[in-house]
Amino acid sequence: MAMASFVSLRSSLSLLFLLSLPLVLLFSSHYIPSDLYPVRTSSHSSVNVSIPVSDPHPSPPPPPPSPSPFIPSKKCNIYEGRWVRDETNRTPHYAPKSCPYVDEAFACMANGRPDDDFLKWRWEPSGCLLPRFNATDFLVRLRGKKLMLVGDSMNRNQFESLLCVLREALPDKSRMYETRGYRITKGRGYFIFKFKDYDCTVEFIRSHFLVKEGTRTNRLGNSNPTLSIDRIDKSAKRWKKADILVFNTGHWWTHGKTARGKNYYQEGGVLYPTFDAVEAYRGAIRTWGKWIDRNINPSKTTVFYRGYSTAHFRGGDWDSGGSCNGEQSPALSGPIINNYPIKMRIVEEVINQMRFPVVLLNITKLTNYRKDGHPSIYGKIRKNGQKKVSKRKQDCSHWCLPGVPDTWNELIYATLVLQGHNREVA
Ligand SMILES: *[C@@H]1O[C@H](CO)[C@@H](O)[C@H](O)[C@H]1NC(C)=O
Ligand SMILES: *[C@@H]1O[C@H](CO)[C@@H](O)[C@H](O)[C@H]1NC(C)=O
Ligand SMILES: *[C@@H]1O[C@H](CO)[C@@H](O)[C@H](O)[C@H]1NC(C)=O
Repeated sequence: MAMASFVSLRSSLSLLFLLSLPLVLLFSSHYIPSDLYPVRTSSHSSVNVSIPVSDPHPSPPPPPPSPSPFIPSKKCNIYEGRWVRDETNRTPHYAPKSCPYVDEAFACMANGRPDDDFLKWRWEPSGCLLPRFNATDFLVRLRGKKLMLVGDSMNRNQFESLLCVLREALPDKSRMYETRGYRITKGRGYFIFKFKDYDCTVEFIRSHFLVKEGTRTNRLGNSNPTLSIDRIDKSAKRWKKADILVFNTGHWWTHGKTARGKNYYQEGGVLYPTFDAVEAYRGAIRTWGKWIDRNINPSKTTVFYRGYSTAHFRGGDWDSGGSCNGEQSPALSGPIINNYPIKMRIVEEVINQMRFPVVLLNITKLTNYRKDGHPSIYGKIRKNGQKKVSKRKQDCSHWCLPGVPDTWNELIYATLVLQGHNREVA
C-alpha cells in the first residue's frame, strides 16, 4: 500500500508551499516514519539473515496479529540495521567489470581480487523496509536536475558508484557521457555526466576540505600550502547551480600537514604557527554551514552531508604498513562497530545549528562492519604472472565497486522517494 503512493517530485511541486513545514521537520530529524516503510517480520522470501547485530532474537518473534507482513512502528532510522546476506539478483547492482566508470583504484575484480562474497550483502534497516531500489525511477526523479557530489576521493568513489547504478537503467548505454569527453582519473577535479534522455547531470567536484586552500611564501622564498578555515572553497560558485548536493570531507584531516597544523591553518588572514586539526575541522564545517545557510534555498535544493566512511587498517595506518587484505566477510563485533568519530559529532553539532535542513547521510556505522569491502592490494591491475603484490601500501579506506558506496546511493534514493511521497500526502 505504501509503495503505490510514491510519486515523482515534479508532480507535486505545486504543494511545495503548504509542505515547507513538514519537510523541514522531516529533514531535521533524519527519521523515516515507518508507517511509510513498515517493519518487516522474521519471514521473508529468499533472504537469509546471517548477521544478528544490535538486536539478536534468540527466540522467534510472535506471529503478526494480522495476515499483513508488516507491523507499523513509530519511527525508523534507516542507518540502524544490519547487513544481510542476499543471494538474489538484487546485489550487486551491476556486474563486476561491467561499468566503464569505475576507475582502476576501485576496480578490485578487474585487478584480480579472487573472492566475491563481499558483493552479496544488502543493508537492511532494523525498523523498516527501504523502498526497492529502482534506477529508472531514480533517473525520473532527477529529470531536469543537477546532482553534484563535492568532496574528496571518497566522494569520487560514491560518484563512480552512482554513475554505475544509474547506467543500469539505460537500455542504450551511449545515452550517458562526460560532456567534455573526460575519462575519470584521480588527477582531474571536475566531471559532468549527462543523461540525455532525462536531461539531467551527475557531477563531481573535488574539494578535499570544502574550505579554501592557498599558498604562502615564507622568508626563504619557499611556497607552502595553507588552509583558510574561514573561507569557502573557490569551487563554491558552482555548488550554487545544483539541485541536489552531496558533501563530504574528513579523510584529509588526519595526516601530514593537516594533522600537524604547523603554519598551515589561517583565519582572518592570520596564519597560526600551530593549530589543532580537530578545531580546524570544526571551523571549516562551520564555514561550510554558514555558506549553505546564506547561499542555498531550501525550497529548491536538497543538501546531503555524507558521514565519515570508516577505514579498516590492521597493524598500522595507510602509510605505515596497515593492511586489510584477506578480509572476506563483514565484522560482526568488536569496538569498531560502535565507533563514531569526534568529527561526526562536530558535523552533527553544526548541522543542528543551521537554518538549512541538511540531510545527514549517516553511513558511518554501516561502514564500520565492512572490513571486507576495501581494495586492499587490489587497487591496481595485477600484471600477468605477477604473484607478489606490494603489501606495504594497501587501500583500506576506499571501497571496491560494485560495493559499499552503492548502498549509500540506495539511501539517497530512499530519501528522495520519501520527499516525493511526503509532498503528495500533505
Ligand atoms: C537460505 O535459507 C533457505 C531456507 O532456510 C535455505 O534453503 C537456503 O539454502 C539458504 N541459502 C543460503 C545461501 O544460505
Ligand atoms: C521502476 O520505475 C519505473 C519508472 O518510474 C517504473 O516504470 C517501473 O515499473 C519501476 N520498476 C519496478 C520493478 O518497480
Ligand atoms: C548517526 O549514527 C550514529 C552511529 O550509529 C549515531 O550515534 C548518531 O546518533 C546518528 N546521528 C543522527 C543524527 O541520527
